[in-house]
Amino acid sequence: MHLKSIQQLELPATADMHVHLRQGELMELMVPTVRQGGVDTAFVMPNLVPPLTNVDQVLDYQSKLRTIAKDVNFLMSLFLHPSITPDVIAQAAAAGITGVKMYPQGVTTNSESGVSNLESFYDTFAAMEKHGLVLNLHGEVLESLAPKDVTLEEAFLPTLKTLHERFPQLRIMLEHCTTAAAVEAVRACGPTVGATITAHHLYLTSHDACCDPFAFCKPIPKKPTDRDALVRTIVSGDPKFFFGSDSAPHPLQSKTSAEEGKAPAGVYTQPFVTQLVIVALEEAIERGTIKEEDVTQAKLEGFLSKFGRQFYRLPEASNKVVLERKGEKIPTSIRSEDGSIEVGISKVGTDVFSLRWV
Ligand code: NCD
Ligand code: ZN
Repeated sequence: MHLKSIQQLELPATADMHVHLRQGELMELMVPTVRQGGVDTAFVMPNLVPPLTNVDQVLDYQSKLRTIAKDVNFLMSLFLHPSITPDVIAQAAAAGITGVKMYPQGVTTNSESGVSNLESFYDTFAAMEKHGLVLNLHGEVLESLAPKDVTLEEAFLPTLKTLHERFPQLRIMLEHCTTAAAVEAVRACGPTVGATITAHHLYLTSHDACCDPFAFCKPIPKKPTDRDALVRTIVSGDPKFFFGSDSAPHPLQSKTSAEEGKAPAGVYTQPFVTQLVIVALEEAIERGTIKEEDVTQAKLEGFLSKFGRQFYRLPEASNKVVLERKGEKIPTSIRSEDGSIEVGISKVGTDVFSLRWV
């Protein structure tokens, strides 16, 4: 596929299997941007303030999201916490909740009530395995627990293996994987283990993330070789790997006014998620990481739409989007009508396809 010369592309709706939609006014601004990025199905993260640690909170949040965007299928998750007992898992399954997200305590935004000892949740995991809930892992260890010269993600990979061996039928997602080592670890597991890949980890490296608050996120983008391994994973067509943007908005002020290195973690991509994956592939072709013919219609459809739905046992997309080159560029930010909230977008100024629903 000669991506650069293609003027028009039709794709099934994207399934974005990792989004942060926040709450309050920020939520009101964020939720409409889901469809703008070509997404009709979104797996929603529970790291709100306070975190979503019971079924009623999750259902209440889902109904708020549905009120704002009636045409998005919001798949919901609970925040793994001591209150998530096997009984709560049974209730969650009956209520149609899809997954449980594990945040190691203190590794990222709003993870203060996260987990410090995974073994204490083994009964909960057994109940999830029985009821068919997915375990979504933020696969990093705390900086203080990582051996020197090993990334926080690589230090977590033995835990992924242990959990999979102990609960082989439990579907486990390694969220936002960022290293060649993580890709290998996921491949080494059985078909119940998969991983999401974001758009931004396909174009950012540690070099960008160190100094630009709008490129700073968890897991931190890694080396060019890791970025390239992720790109190659996508064009390998392996159904274990599919799209999850990890679009994580923070008010622009909190990004720009923070001291150097102290900005909140999160890259915001939601209004252009489908296009940004394509931009990253175009850049990878230009760098020589992959060849034009490595990108095919089937591989784009697999990564963006089909594989995620398969893993989550959903039907194929029934809606389509058309992407056209019309000279559109990514704007600096999006703002609420009264201007009180503004969120900076990743890759400002980049030429992107314009997207419409058909
Ligand atoms: C996320 C957020 O802001 O909620 N931040 C991020 O850098 N990705 C949390 C997360 O997914 O780690
Ligand atoms: Zn996230």
